[in-house]
Amino acid sequence: MDIIARCRYTQSSWSLFSHVAWIETTTSPPKNSAIPAGAKKIGNVSQLPANSAGTVSDPKNGDPAVIIHASGSTFYAYDAVCTHAGCTVQYDPQQKLLVCPCHGGTFDPAHGAQVVAGPPPSPLTPIQMTIDAHGDIYIV
Ligand code: FES
Repeated sequence: MDIIARCRYTQSSWSLFSHVAWIETTTSPPKNSAIPAGAKKIGNVSQLPANSAGTVSDPKNGDPAVIIHASGSTFYAYDAVCTHAGCTVQYDPQQKLLVCPCHGGTFDPAHGAQVVAGPPPSPLTPIQMTIDAHGDIYIV
């Protein structure tokens, strides 16, 4: 498993997941054993405590992808490239929001990464993931 060094979070960092490919978002992904063909394992839920996030590289486009464990079985995944000017957003566990360090753009991961502050013109792009019965996290 390749370690990603893109995680810039000051706390609750999650940097143990491997390079990955991935596409949409799932808020509370189902735990199942039917993993789609081509899905790539990026880690395990045990590596990502509640109210924390980590960043992996999306192999489809090379963009950073942020995986957030909100609480319980609720996870979110988004392309971490800010829709304003392309900086990488970071998860702020105190606000429970994704914040862009460049111009203060702020996104709400619990509501489709909608813009809640700053200049970004649109939400972050969702990425699809699933979690199996063993807690392994996959992106498709
Ligand atoms: S690049 Fe993110 S707010 Fe400007």
